[in-house]
Amino acid sequence: MTEPTPADYTGPRRILSGIQASGALHLGNYLGALKRFVALQEQDAPCFLFVADLHAITVWQDPAVLTAQTREIAAAYLASGLDPKRSVIFPQSAVPAHAELAWIFNCVARLGWLDRMTQFKEKSGKHKERSSVGLYTYPVLQAADILVYKATGVPTGEDQKQHLELTRDIAAKFNNDFGVPGFFPLPEPLTQGPAPRVMSLRDGAAKMSKSDPSDQSRINLMDDADTIAAKVRKAKTDPEPLPETLEGLDARPEARNLVAIYAALADLSREQVLAQFAGQGFGAFKPRLAELAVESLAPVTAEMRRLMAAPDEIDRVLRDGAERAAEIADPIVAETKRIVGFWR
Ligand code: TRP
Repeated sequence: MTEPTPADYTGPRRILSGIQASGALHLGNYLGALKRFVALQEQDAPCFLFVADLHAITVWQDPAVLTAQTREIAAAYLASGLDPKRSVIFPQSAVPAHAELAWIFNCVARLGWLDRMTQFKEKSGKHKERSSVGLYTYPVLQAADILVYKATGVPTGEDQKQHLELTRDIAAKFNNDFGVPGFFPLPEPLTQGPAPRVMSLRDGAAKMSKSDPSDQSRINLMDDADTIAAKVRKAKTDPEPLPETLEGLDARPEARNLVAIYAALADLSREQVLAQFAGQGFGAFKPRLAELAVESLAPVTAEMRRLMAAPDEIDRVLRDGAERAAEIADPIVAETKRIVGFWR
C-alpha cells in the first residue's frame, strides 16, 4: 500500500441536515432545526435538507403514517421559509445513493465504534437483542447521508455530535485505507444561530420530544392557537419571580426553559429577556410567552395546513429535490465504487 499523504479536502462547501420522519413536529424541531436552516440558507453554500425516512424505519412505522409524515416534514421545511429553488428538499429514500454508500461505509466502520454510540444504547434500552439491525447501524447511514454530497457543514443538535464524530472517523478511514487523501471532507458541526435545547413543558430536565406520552409536554407545529396558549399557561414552573441574571436560573430548569424559548422566538438573548422581566412572576410572563408563541407559529402553522391540503405541490418539490440531489450524489458514489474496486 502506498503511504497516504495528509491532504485536506478542497472541494466546494455544502451544508446538509435531515429530520427523521417519525412523530409530529414540535417547537423543539422548529427552534433547534428549521429556524436555523432558514438562517443558513442565506449563506453562500447550497443546503441539502431531507426527510430521513430510511432512518425512520429503524423502528416500526405504519406505512400510511410514514408517507403522511414525510409530506408533513416537507411542508414544515417550506412553511418555515426554506426556498425550494435555493435549497434542495427531498426524501432520503428517493435518492438510492444514500443506501448504496451506507453499505460501503458499513464495511469501513468498526463494531467497536458503533458499540460506543450512546443514542443506540438509549433507544434500544433493555431490549438490545430485539432492536433492528438498522437501529444499530443508523449512524453509518447518517455518515453516508452527509458524505454522499461531500457536505462540509452539518447543523444539528448536541445529541448528534457523536454521530458527526463517527462520520469524520469513517471519512478519515476511507481516505486513508484507499489512499485517497482529501476524497471525503471531514464535516464540521454548525452550531451558530439560535439553537436552544428546548425542554419538555412538564419536566425541565427532559428534552421536548415527539415520543413523550404527554401531549402537554410539547407544542406541536400543527397545534391551533388556543391549544398553544393553554399549554404555555399550564407549563410547569416555580413560584419565584424571574431573576436578574442567568445564574439565577441555574437550579430552576423549568424557568430556564421558558426563558430560552422566549429568547429564541423573539430573537433576543436570554439576558435581554431577563432584563425585561426580572422581578415579575410567571403570572405575568406566561401570557406574554403564550402570545409570542402563537404569533410566531401562526404563519408557519397556517402555511403547513395549506400545503398539507395541497399534497401535489409538496410532491412536486420533493420530486424535483430528489432529482437535483441525485445529480450531486450519483457521481460521488460512482467515484467511490471505482476507488473500492467494483467492476464497471
Ligand atoms: N439523526 C438525525 C436526528 O435524529 C437525523 C439525521 C439523519 C441527520 N441523517 C442526518 C442529521 C444527516 C444531520 C445529517 O436528528
